[in-house]
Amino acid sequence: MTMLNFKLLLLWFCTISLSGQQIHLQNVHNRNIISLNGYWKIIIDPYENGFYDYRYQENPNGYFKNKKPASESDLVEYDFDRSDSLYVPRDWNTQNEKLFMYEGTVWYKKSFDLKISEGKRYLINFGAVNYNAVVYVNGDKIGEHTGGFTQFTFEITKYLKGEKNFVVVKVDNKRLREGVPTLNTDWWNYGGITRDVSVIIVPETFVQDYFIQLAENESNTIKGWIKLNGNNTGIPVKLSIPEINLNETLTENDNGIFNFEFNANPKLWDTENPYLYKVKIIGGQDTTTDRIGFRNIETEGSTILLNGKPVFLKGISSHEESPITNGRAATEDDALAVLEVVKELGCNYIRLAHYPHNENIIRAAEKSGILIWSEIPVYWTILWNNSQTYSNAENQLTEMISRDKNRANVIIWSVANETPRSDSRLKFLRGLIDKARALDPTRLISAATELSYDENKMIIDDPLCEILDIIGANEYLGWYGGKPEDAQKISWVSKFNKPLIISEFGGGALYGFHADKNTRWSEEYQENVYINQLIMLDKIPFLQGMSPWILMDFRSPRRPLPGIQDFWNRKGLVSPEGNKKKAFYILEQYYKSKKTWRNNDFGN
Ligand code: GCU
Repeated sequence: MTMLNFKLLLLWFCTISLSGQQIHLQNVHNRNIISLNGYWKIIIDPYENGFYDYRYQENPNGYFKNKKPASESDLVEYDFDRSDSLYVPRDWNTQNEKLFMYEGTVWYKKSFDLKISEGKRYLINFGAVNYNAVVYVNGDKIGEHTGGFTQFTFEITKYLKGEKNFVVVKVDNKRLREGVPTLNTDWWNYGGITRDVSVIIVPETFVQDYFIQLAENESNTIKGWIKLNGNNTGIPVKLSIPEINLNETLTENDNGIFNFEFNANPKLWDTENPYLYKVKIIGGQDTTTDRIGFRNIETEGSTILLNGKPVFLKGISSHEESPITNGRAATEDDALAVLEVVKELGCNYIRLAHYPHNENIIRAAEKSGILIWSEIPVYWTILWNNSQTYSNAENQLTEMISRDKNRANVIIWSVANETPRSDSRLKFLRGLIDKARALDPTRLISAATELSYDENKMIIDDPLCEILDIIGANEYLGWYGGKPEDAQKISWVSKFNKPLIISEFGGGALYGFHADKNTRWSEEYQENVYINQLIMLDKIPFLQGMSPWILMDFRSPRRPLPGIQDFWNRKGLVSPEGNKKKAFYILEQYYKSKKTWRNNDFGN
């Protein structure tokens, strides 16, 4: 890509966010914020009575006005202050049993005091709201967002009225055929304001966004861009990384975007030494600091290279569920609890399935040297020919990349999971892949593709693989079809000279249920699946990683089997109560003694 195209694309990337009132704000947590976390008042509204009038037209005086009766005869049929409360950040399903399986609208309201200062601007940021959010401040609509797993930011300066303010959010988690994801998934449809909410105070001109990484496939060039928001005529930007004596003043900019490229020789970030540099950016009266790691990730034939050296991704898949609340994970405590088990398992990599996870797990994993596969919920039977569905998917991809593009441990952007082969699917995904590469040429693109099977041969021949850097593939030999031992008859063939990651394999077990290894749902059955899978996979020369399905049992409406599932998918290596199943120790042994593992006799 020529520098001109790169600049034109950046201009598009950064301005598109302004036109829809939404602002792509980098490094929210390190800004001057007022947290709106805590209890919000709520109104459960399955008929959207607070949004539509009885003729089903948008009501200009809906619940978002937070009206009070003007007199004793005045008719107001709602009252936030006398309604229930819900904690933010957290899903509503695990806070209120009336909402455990609820799919529809819940109104949230939070009052906040704010001392307005001349020369300051005020933004509001939501870490995530599942699935659709309409945001109002002091009764005025300020914006709308679709997509349950990516952050969004609006400017609210002109909506603030003195010190006493309130924000109302209409949250609707109804699944939609044209949605992303679509109607059918194998995870719980947790609704609510599921991540942090902050009011952010910035100067008139502030550092809105930046991308600071090693240049592609180079270890001694730091390249990127910084975007100012506000009147930036003649305002220089200062970029400093003190530990490598980098102190640069940038003056040239394209409409507020300052591109740069410097020689530097930073200590490289890797899984053993996850070194992060303190980076400071000054633009106008705004200063923001971040901690950034520098590394290269690339492929060479069927090998993945981290800083030029082959790396095998010893991973595990994970949904975003908290071992503490057994609901949507959101906090740093949730992240640290998950990472503790991941490290005990001997992993250097996590597949964060099937949607972008919260920033706490990404940043905590970055500090621990754990590599990340991050994915948008283009899952199963998406409406490939629907242009709004495509725009929604592309927007969620853009927001995922925008938030985490400076995180050294994020090495893979995944655009799909188990999507049925078709021309329209390939066209849809090709668009997303082109977009991802344009937004971020420094990372690898993958997806969980579809395998072919013929006469004991697993064949990697999905045309999607042609346009991926790394081939992901899910297979459940021994669980969905065949016996675990059948894996020993299988050989693997790939039509592509590219690295393969087995992005899912596994089987279910109820923790504490013990029987012989042929008894479905016993820990011994699951253990036998892992043993036979690992013996088979260990022989594939182009296999460069795996993320077995899955770290922890997780809730799913597709898994009702009484006494065994009870609406939990039991493929976890760990139970919701934190108990490790026998298969956990098989995978741990494989990861921690891979060299000698092949000779181990697992009693087969
Ligand atoms: C699929 C899918 C997962 C699902 C798993 C299962 O591979 O990608 O989301 O949970 O199989 O059936 O348990």
